[in-house]
Amino acid sequence: MTEHLTIVDHPLVQHKLTHMREKTTSTAGFRRLLREISNLLAYEVTRELPVTTREIETPMNTMQAPVLDGKKLVLVSILRAGNGLLDGVLELIPSARVGFVGLYRDEETLQPVQYYFKVPQELEDRLVIAVDPMLATGNSSVAAIDLLKKAGATNIRFMCLLAAPEGVARMKEAHPDVPIVTASLDERLNEDGYIVPGLGDAGDRMFGTK
Ligand code: URA
Repeated sequence: MTEHLTIVDHPLVQHKLTHMREKTTSTAGFRRLLREISNLLAYEVTRELPVTTREIETPMNTMQAPVLDGKKLVLVSILRAGNGLLDGVLELIPSARVGFVGLYRDEETLQPVQYYFKVPQELEDRLVIAVDPMLATGNSSVAAIDLLKKAGATNIRFMCLLAAPEGVARMKEAHPDVPIVTASLDERLNEDGYIVPGLGDAGDRMFGTK
């Protein structure tokens, strides 16, 4: 991917996103819509995967048919909200390997602190797609990608549902080599670090917590 930011403005994505934003949408509805949108975002984020050909036999003939090339790609969920995007991407790419990065925010320094990190082997040879629905300040995304690079990843993409301009700028500064795919670039962050107009707390809305 050459663009640093790709906004997937497909009508189906935008329609589903509108329902997700609405505060009256139920937890079950929110979860279902997130899964559906993540299918569609996954389509975009994997658009330029390398392909090779393999000889197959159809009922009519033999042909050289396209198949994905290279090692299985890796999906990395940035906990906990990343899990909501993970399911939908796995539906489309069931053989993907999966990793998890857990970060919490230190209340004093406000900096992300790692509490969990588990990723597949041979990251250096694989496309790594990190997923987190909300790119807000960018602090946790930048920290997660720092960790992935330290673990060997060299080809990383970041997939989110909503992005704030502040988070995109922070990612571009820290990781200009990591393309971002999102369904929307919203207006701004508010003073509490929430995306406006946004959709509220994505984790709370998908898991029914508050
Ligand atoms: N995380 C969320 O869940 N929502 C926001 O608006 C920002 C960060």
